[in-house]
Amino acid sequence: MDQAQGLRKIVETKAVEARRRMISGSTAPRSIQHAPRVISVTSGKGGVGKTNIVGNLAVAFARLGKKVLIFDADLGLANIDIIFGLNPSYHMGHVIDGEKSLADVMVEGPEGIRIIPAGSGVAELTHLSEGQKLNLLSEFEALDDMLDVFLIDTGAGISANVVYFNLAADECIIVVTDEPTSITDAYAMIKVMFTQHGTKHFKILVNMVKDNSVAKAVYENLSQVADRFLNGVLLEYIGFIPGDELMRKAVLRRKPVMSLYPGAECSKQFIKLAAGILESPRRHESDGNIKFFLKRFIGFRTSQMLGDTQ
Ligand SMILES: Nc1ncnc2c1ncn2[C@@H]1O[C@H](COP(=O)(O)OP(=O)(O)O)[C@@H](O)[C@H]1O
Ligand SMILES: [Mg+2]
Repeated sequence: MDQAQGLRKIVETKAVEARRRMISGSTAPRSIQHAPRVISVTSGKGGVGKTNIVGNLAVAFARLGKKVLIFDADLGLANIDIIFGLNPSYHMGHVIDGEKSLADVMVEGPEGIRIIPAGSGVAELTHLSEGQKLNLLSEFEALDDMLDVFLIDTGAGISANVVYFNLAADECIIVVTDEPTSITDAYAMIKVMFTQHGTKHFKILVNMVKDNSVAKAVYENLSQVADRFLNGVLLEYIGFIPGDELMRKAVLRRKPVMSLYPGAECSKQFIKLAAGILESPRRHESDGNIKFFLKRFIGFRTSQMLGDTQ
């Protein structure tokens, strides 16, 4: 049995156990401190670097000894596999249809990182039958004790899908650049999540800037507007990634810059960023795991389908 088959077997066994537990009503066995951190990476505007950040941040977490799973939740372009040079055959849609198990669609990227390619499955997440929900929840719960970090690469913009992924995550990283449209679109995202859903805390990451002082200025700009118009919102500056030619080179070679150029300035920043995130206090401590992530996600969608106009 090779490594992938071994992994598949473990996940499948755990999914069966989880399903049994769910049906019998007993709770998940894992302690809260060890439940994975569920982090979404999002932006108002597309093309600001989310997918590259997710891929490289995943490598950084892996180097810090963490077990990482990436969920590619970008409906339009399932491009995390491009960054990692992978060609997955299946995606989330096959799991929802019952054709494949989560273990079958998961692919392994560099440094032991696992990826769930979303494909059209993301849209289908919004229309699940009760049986499909139960299946999916048990499949996801099986992953809980195999993971430390669950990273979600969302699409851009304030479509319902993106907003709900952000709401369901424990922590939301908003990526901005110094372009004015990126800042105004990030503000629009924060505004929707704060005013319509009550999310107060956002982590701000500034990408493609020269240095920390430029990044801080971008953050201050966003923060001032938020303070003025969104009373009670909390924007936390978590760092920056420099605009780096080596990042572009890595993209062309379909490898994370962290793997290809570990000494590059942006690679150093990714490690710093990952370490900072791991040190920061967790939110939603009582329900920080993937099962709850999905429950929240499905729950939101259900309430929306019932006529809750967001
Ligand atoms: N820090 C950076 N330095 C240089 N180029 C970058 C950086 N971050 C992103 N890019 C470039 O920006 C493009 C868009 O990035 P991507 O991660 O696909 O954005 P998004 O997922 O937000 O749409 C990539 O092709 C990449 O070449
Ligand atoms: Mg992307």
